[in-house]
Amino acid sequence: MGAAAFSGSAAATFAFGGGKAVARAPVIAQPIANDTKKLVLDLAERPAALPCFDGKTLPLWTFEEGSLYPIVRMKLGERLDTQYANHLPRAGEYVSLHWHGLRIPNDQDGVPFMTQKPVEPGSSGTYSFVPPDTGSFFFHTHCNTDEHFGRGLVGALIVEGDEIEPSDAEYVLMMKDWRLSPEGTFLPFSTDAGAAKAGTSGTVRSVNGEKTAVFKVPSSANVRIRFYNVDPTRISEIGFEDGEAAIIAIDGNGLDPLPLVSWRMGPAMRIDILLRTAPEGGKVRLVDFFAKEPVVLAEFVSEGPAKRSGAFVPTPLKVMPFPNVDVGNAQIIPFIFSATATGEALSEFAKSDVEIGSLCLTKRTFWAINKQAWSSMDHRDLGPPLAVLKSGQSYIFDLQNTTPHSHPIHIHGHTFEVMSSSMRHVQPHRADTILLRPNERVQAGIVGGQPGKWMFHCHIIDHQETGMMGYIEVA
Ligand code: C2O
Ligand code: CU
Repeated sequence: MGAAAFSGSAAATFAFGGGKAVARAPVIAQPIANDTKKLVLDLAERPAALPCFDGKTLPLWTFEEGSLYPIVRMKLGERLDTQYANHLPRAGEYVSLHWHGLRIPNDQDGVPFMTQKPVEPGSSGTYSFVPPDTGSFFFHTHCNTDEHFGRGLVGALIVEGDEIEPSDAEYVLMMKDWRLSPEGTFLPFSTDAGAAKAGTSGTVRSVNGEKTAVFKVPSSANVRIRFYNVDPTRISEIGFEDGEAAIIAIDGNGLDPLPLVSWRMGPAMRIDILLRTAPEGGKVRLVDFFAKEPVVLAEFVSEGPAKRSGAFVPTPLKVMPFPNVDVGNAQIIPFIFSATATGEALSEFAKSDVEIGSLCLTKRTFWAINKQAWSSMDHRDLGPPLAVLKSGQSYIFDLQNTTPHSHPIHIHGHTFEVMSSSMRHVQPHRADTILLRPNERVQAGIVGGQPGKWMFHCHIIDHQETGMMGYIEVA
């Protein structure tokens, strides 16, 4: 893990925004807060015996005492004031918090060296912003992220205020794997063999820290499920074995309810589901159909009197006002996601049974965007931007995956309008992370947002940290 080797003193030489503080009038009016919510986070090692660890205790890294993943709820229109302290137990293990999916000012985006100073162990920092949209978002660090995700350092941020008709109950499901050795220690969070292919996968699956999470739910009710894929690697295909359900939001963005058959989700992707629960005494199962054998991730067991009768008609959520992509005047920008020569060689090599965990690679660069591979996973060396956008102007990103692997492509501070694909019918929708299937090409509209440098990367963290990362500059 490169970050561990980074000495704290290097932070002093850091300069952000290219070293110049340029005053610019914000092009997008910032929302005015009518209330403030305070959030205190304390990043530290907290050993825990999660149910999915089968009696073993592992040194998790978490945001607060007593909860695996904090779930922060706030109302649209509130300001979120966050104070965070870094008490991680390793010298040089600096942090910053990224608010995934939120269209907030660039200086609150939480990318070390690029938008803020990294926060060293023993130090603390703050964020303050007003989320402009409702939805299911999340937060995570943006450095040595394989290990941070691997040890559990993830939290949900829910901005409420999108329901036209209240649901009968609500549940938050965080799906994440763990890399455990038979002895009950963490395996290396990233291997070269994994990083050069589909990512280093976990050995134990979980939802909310349990192998199969069981929820007691009201009978014959319409319940809302916020489902998060917060694994650094896993691609899943989420659906129910029985029961009627609809997708009511993708990455927090409301859409015309889409009957849920199954939905493919890469790392960092979220869906909000409305589920009609079983009659009293029955249950429905949430399943991952992507695995060779379908895996039951959660069970919803009905209890008590029926809440509803009649057909299941999902009520849509309120849709947030967004700048519309002006397709006719949009400039098309191609982005080609590829493997580097090293990455290809390594993935060939990985087909044999040879252990390659210890290959002496001077640089782990296996992936590239438009032939540029981000040269260091710690965000220090800024190359040129992959593209420069004008705030308020429309673009179409022509995303081309030239590899045999899937890549969930994420942009900071913006929301894509997913328009079309070379391989499948897509229901147009908004998303901050787009799963490109092997060799797929997807067209995604985007309107240049707030000025600044915005990370643009694959959210398979292994890929991100071995080159498939860059940034877009909005001027
Ligand atoms: Cu969850 Cu750079 O992103
Ligand atoms: Cu990828």
